[in-house]
Order: sequence, then structure tokens, then C-alpha cells
Amino acid sequence: MTAALINKKWTLGSRPQTTVSKEHFNFETETVRDLADGEFLVKNQYLSFEPAQRGWLNDVRSYVPPVAIGEVMRSVAAGEVIASKHADYRVGDRVQGGFGWQEYAISDGSGLFPVTKVPGDMPLSYPLHIYGLTGLTAYFGLLDIGQPKAGETVLISGAAGATGSTVGQIAKLKGCRVIGIAGGRAKCQWLIDELGYDAVIDYKSESVDERLQALCKNNIDVFFDNVGGDILDSALVNMANRGRIVLCGGISSGYQVQELPPGPKNYMQLVIRRCHMEGFIVLDHVDRYPAATEQLMQWVAEGKILVKEHILEGIEQCPEALAGLFSGQNFGKQLVKI
Ligand SMILES: NC(=O)c1ccc[n+]([C@@H]2O[C@H](COP(=O)([O-])OP(=O)(O)OC[C@H]3O[C@@H](n4cnc5c(N)ncnc54)[C@H](OP(=O)(O)O)[C@@H]3O)[C@@H](O)[C@H]2O)c1
Repeated sequence: MTAALINKKWTLGSRPQTTVSKEHFNFETETVRDLADGEFLVKNQYLSFEPAQRGWLNDVRSYVPPVAIGEVMRSVAAGEVIASKHADYRVGDRVQGGFGWQEYAISDGSGLFPVTKVPGDMPLSYPLHIYGLTGLTAYFGLLDIGQPKAGETVLISGAAGATGSTVGQIAKLKGCRVIGIAGGRAKCQWLIDELGYDAVIDYKSESVDERLQALCKNNIDVFFDNVGGDILDSALVNMANRGRIVLCGGISSGYQVQELPPGPKNYMQLVIRRCHMEGFIVLDHVDRYPAATEQLMQWVAEGKILVKEHILEGIEQCPEALAGLFSGQNFGKQLVKI
């Protein structure tokens, strides 16, 4: 059966030095090979896009090895098993794992992003965000490091993104005052109208410094930072005593290899205000994924956390979907549907 199938895939052609674009990838076709014992074949239906994928293209020390030239572009994906020689996976199983930018993936279940089954009553895309790395990043970063308490002020950069919007909703559930920083009127309006944020700052049309002074001068208890750069510096000068800064990401650097992102100029505020600033990687919490996912599922089922997806159609769209994260093209979790 597999011999007749043609796979379409994107492999890494060259390493971007600055902005990532289509020219760095090769679009290839191949005949799907026969399965060996212990393998199964997945037909991908959704591919997940995250800013970290840009970082994985850099040949530098990181928490995962770089994607190799010629390798299928690494990504988490979800699909259905259509052939199997693996005892644990049967035809018709819905699965998610590190299947990459391709239509068909052969897997033995192991890898950097191990394969798990997706229950029949769960939308197939949800393990790629709210019940996957995105939701878990929000959960562990905010609750473990941010440790928000009722009545405290939580500021979030990248607030309308997949991770940021989940952070804000969890902070509201914990009884916090939530302020989001996002780009553009539509995203900011959505945070207020649908997610119940208390205030927003449109960093594309407003002065972040001035708005922080007006909204939370010296009063930020938790800053969940997805952006870094100038926004981190602006938040640093407005931290409350014993505030916590959660370093989740630094997308303003573009995760480009050429230049190091600027360090925070205002870091002495950490001393003066006795603040705590800590980075984290969600992959370190794998043993706690089941309990955290259960909690996220409960919140979603109760309507307490809303999810938003931004879907492009067709495997051809992969490079654009990745590049678009760095210009804010996505409004919700960026996915490609095949
Ligand atoms: N530590 C971890 O384990 C971990 C795990 C997953 C993700 N992350 C980090 O979490 C952050 C969010 O990731 P995500 O997957 O949820 O993506 P996302 O927030 O859904 O998409 C990225 C968003 O970043 C914003 N952005 C892009 N360039 C920007 C810039 N120069 N300045 C300010 N904002 C900019 C855009 O929103 P606007 O339209 O509002 O500009 C864009 O929509 C990233 O920093 C990512 O690296 C960390």
C-alpha cells in the first residue's frame, strides 16, 4: 500500500542568517518507502508552527540540536496512522509527534517529540497548542516561576499569541489583574472583549513606557515575557518589590544568529526591587505534562480558557507560516492544515 504513495516534504536547504524565508527550504517529492518492523506510517493533517523553529535553524549551542541541512524541517504535527508494523499503533489511531513538514511520516514512536495518541473526542489540532507545548509553556511558566497570587498585577508581552493568550487567561483564573502588550487594534480588542484582560497596550501604535506608567507604575508583580528587548527594559523599571519576571522567549530578536539580542539595560532594577528573573524550557517538565494537561482540559471544557487558531491550507504554505510569526501575521495558534 505504501509503495504507491508520494510524499511531499520541505527540507532545510541553507541556514538563514537573518529573516527566514522560502528560499532556505527545498520542496521535494519522494515515494513513501515500505515500513520496517516496529514502524508505522502517519498521514499528517495539522502542522504546528512556533518561533523556536527559527532558532533550530541556527548552528549554535541550544537545548536541542540544530536541524541538519537536507533534513525534513522539524515540527510537531498531528495525523492518522494509515499503515503499521508497530504493536502499539494501529491503522486509524490519531497521533501527534515530531513528524515534520511533510505529508507522510514514518515513525517508531520515539524522538525529540515522542508520539502520543489523541483521544477520539479531542480536536486533532489541540495537542499542537492548548494541550501541547503551547498550553504547557503558559502553565508551567506562569504558575511555577510567576507564582501569581490573587489581586496581583500580571503583565504579558506577546499577549495575543498562542502562549501569551493562554497565560493571560490562567492569570485571570487566579484572580489577577491582567495587562497585555500586543500588536494592533484587532488583537488588543480581542484580549479585552473576549479574554477579559483588564488593560492592553498596542506596542505598534502606543508608547509602551508611557502606558506602563499610566497602568502599572512600579506595580508589576509578574511579567511574563515572550518578546525581550525594549519591552523587557520598559517592564523592568516598573516592577513591584519582589516581582517575578518569567523569561519565556525573546521573539524581538527574531532568533537570528547574526547578532546577539541586546541585554536588558535596566537589570539593576532586579537588585533595587529584589526581583527574580528566571528562564525555563517547557521540555524540562515532561513528567508533569499529564497532570497539567488534565487541568487545561478541564478549563477548556468549562469555557474558562478560549483557544484561537490561525490556519493556512496546504503543505506549500509552511515557510510562509513560519516567517509570519515574526511579523505578527498569526492571530491565534499558527497551524498548517494538509
Ligand atoms: N520557553 C519555552 O519553553 C517556550 C516554549 C514555547 C514558546 N516559547 C516562546 O513563547 C513565545 C510565543 O510563542 P508562540 O508559539 O505562542 O507564538 P505566538 O505568540 O502565537 O506568535 C508570535 C507572536 O509574536 C509577536 N511578535 C513577533 N515579532 C515581534 C516583535 N519584534 N516584537 C513584539 N512582538 C513580536 C507577534 O504578535 P504581535 O502581532 O502582537 O506582534 C506574533 O504573533 C515565543 O517567544 C516563543 O519562543 C517558549
